[in-house]
Amino acid sequence: MKILVTGAKGQLGQEISRQMDADQQLILTDIDNLDITNQDKVRSVFQEVKPQAVIHCAAYTNVDGAEQDFDGAYKVNVIGSQNLASQCLEHHARMVYISTDYVFDGQGTRPYREFDPTNPLSVYGKTKLYGENIIREILGRHYIVRTSWLYGDGHNFVRTMLRLAKEKKQLRVVSDQIGSPTNSKDLVWAIRQLLLTDAYGVYHGSGNGACSWYEFAVKIFAFAGVNIAVEPITTGEYLLPATRPAYSVMENYMLKMAQGDPFRLWEEALEDYLCDLNS
Ligand SMILES: NC(=O)c1ccc[n+]([C@@H]2O[C@H](COP(=O)([O-])OP(=O)(O)OC[C@H]3O[C@@H](n4cnc5c(N)ncnc54)[C@H](OP(=O)(O)O)[C@@H]3O)[C@@H](O)[C@H]2O)c1
Repeated sequence: MKILVTGAKGQLGQEISRQMDADQQLILTDIDNLDITNQDKVRSVFQEVKPQAVIHCAAYTNVDGAEQDFDGAYKVNVIGSQNLASQCLEHHARMVYISTDYVFDGQGTRPYREFDPTNPLSVYGKTKLYGENIIREILGRHYIVRTSWLYGDGHNFVRTMLRLAKEKKQLRVVSDQIGSPTNSKDLVWAIRQLLLTDAYGVYHGSGNGACSWYEFAVKIFAFAGVNIAVEPITTGEYLLPATRPAYSVMENYMLKMAQGDPFRLWEEALEDYLCDLNS
């Protein structure tokens, strides 16, 4: 399959390239050669490449920066997605759009399913949800895959913790936000399987199980053999511009029903990631 990847230099994009390059024809793009907000450029790239599928990883992902830059986040997450969806429609291509647990408000008491009501608290979450909506309106052949707490090749919580452990004697980490860490390897595996089907719709694709950021950090240091004191703190003690959901655990319900849930327990997937980092 000829697949155009947006945001290919990001965490997920790099994992797609690593896993899928051998058996798919990948056209890897990022902002330097395909700014998705540029409608003419998107059109001309589609005319040239004629992709059968798009894996749309490009996004405005600076969650806190977005609070002061609604227009910037809207332009990438909504207008950019609109540009791609319109061209997918014209070229009969299917699209995987990566969305987020931040579309939920975190007031739930059990893992969110795909059809539970959304209510994003942040500009980032809102624009990602508007991106979902505009794709649904334009393109029938979509797979919207919501993931959470993603780590792969690039800036992420795991690498930040390991770096900070080298610089500090003690770390303070928020313990009252609960979610599911997701290894980008598992997410790419799920995307590959989805692309083989015509089962379009919304999917949750997160690591199984749940933890707080504090528990995540403690596990990272345990697996990495790093000895450092970690103190649990509340969200109120670590104020950031964007409000995060307190509880954003998602159940991969649609995957379970459709083709099986390929996501590992978050601890197992984390241990594997740390082994890869050391090898
Ligand atoms: N990371 C997470 O924890 C997480 C959680 C849930 C959902 N997601 C979603 O998963 C997807 C992949 O995330 P990620 O962690 O791989 O993100 P990432 O590492 O930030 O990668 C995003 C890529 O998109 C590029 N980009 C930004 N604006 C663009 C534009 N106008 N045109 C083309 N490319 C542009 C970025 O370039 P620059 O770096 O130059 O800006 C970057 O290379 C995103 O849709 C994100 O919303 C991520």
